[in-house]
Amino acid sequence: MTDNDSPDDLFQGKTQTSSKDNSVPPLQVFNETKYLDDKLGRVLLAIYEREEVTVQDLSVELDRPESHIKRQVSELRKQGYLSVDYEADTKRYFVRSDWGTQEFPSGPIIPLVYQFNLLSDTQRMEALHKAIKTTVDTGDIVADLGAGVGGISCMAARYGKKVHAVEIDREVYEQGRQVVEQAGLDNIEYLRADAREVDLPAETDVIMCEMLDTGLIAELQVPVMNHAIEQLGENVQTIPIRAKTGMRLIQTDYEFYNTEFRLPHFEEYNSRKSEPRSEREDYHKITFTEQNSELVEEEVTVEATEAGIVNGTQLQTHIQFAPGMDYTGASPWLNPPLNLPFEEDYPVSVGDEITVSISYELGGGLQNIVYRVSNR
Ligand SMILES: C[S@@+](CC[C@H](N)C(=O)[O-])C[C@H]1O[C@@H](n2cnc3c(N)ncnc32)[C@H](O)[C@@H]1O
Repeated sequence: MTDNDSPDDLFQGKTQTSSKDNSVPPLQVFNETKYLDDKLGRVLLAIYEREEVTVQDLSVELDRPESHIKRQVSELRKQGYLSVDYEADTKRYFVRSDWGTQEFPSGPIIPLVYQFNLLSDTQRMEALHKAIKTTVDTGDIVADLGAGVGGISCMAARYGKKVHAVEIDREVYEQGRQVVEQAGLDNIEYLRADAREVDLPAETDVIMCEMLDTGLIAELQVPVMNHAIEQLGENVQTIPIRAKTGMRLIQTDYEFYNTEFRLPHFEEYNSRKSEPRSEREDYHKITFTEQNSELVEEEVTVEATEAGIVNGTQLQTHIQFAPGMDYTGASPWLNPPLNLPFEEDYPVSVGDEITVSISYELGGGLQNIVYRVSNR
């Protein structure tokens, strides 16, 4: 993303609107500057105070070259603080009114309060540790994209030469930096950036990216890995290396206190359990060392192996973290099964087939899944 983008290319602006009514409270803007590089903080405050301003005006006001201001404004836009108005050929920047409340514009973040839960998921951590141990050699340069508080960066730093940890969320990033410093791991460099845009060192040997979720739909695993592979080529090693997603037929009781709630949901923790009506049919496979399409469009036919009612489908994703390792299935913080309800109940006998047409954009969010039973 550069400052020369057309309005159509506005960073995530395709789906977001914002008005310039300065409704972000002044104290919040001021507080935020404490977490920004000093120069960026001053630019943010200057734009906030002027309500709407051009790069040229900022350059005069802050007495800095226009090229520097352009870079800083572009960085603030990437981080989601600013929007832009186009008047003829002039761009006027303003602080987004929805900045304080929006989901971070660069994709789903896992806030600080969940990072300990991620670290506590033993099955997930063991699989990642094994993959790092077998993949990262002394002398290797590793990029950890979506590093969180650095759980797997710290593991990799103990096997390799250098780790570039990239995390977008301010609080998570700050915490990660502190952890690494306190652990005395001076071969980890923490960077607060959007992993879909970050420039990776050409000498990177291993890309780690645990931005996995069921179906790879909500998180940015595939767009981020595509960006990394585009820069580094297909000979780089990756953790994980493969993912496969399948679906099975299920019956779920959607009724609670005489009211039916046919809602998509994760089947995890203590949520109500569904009953399987078929085996899993894999329909989407990915190898992360290659560029992958970010669109999934499939007609999946699944054969019932149990007689009964079918009123939903369950998506399951399995991950191979390193060559030779078994695929890792669901655990509380890694790919819990995603149940998608059907509008109707379908009685089935053993051997009956149900075809589900399903499409979604990888990294596009759960709300972008479109599916229906197409053979009934
Ligand atoms: C599932 S967590 C994994 C954290 C850590 N790698 C681990 O395995 O414990 C994914 C992390 O990616 C971060 N993230 C999400 N979108 C991002 C983006 N566009 N660029 C960089 N980091 C991002 C989230 O904030 C979150 O901390």
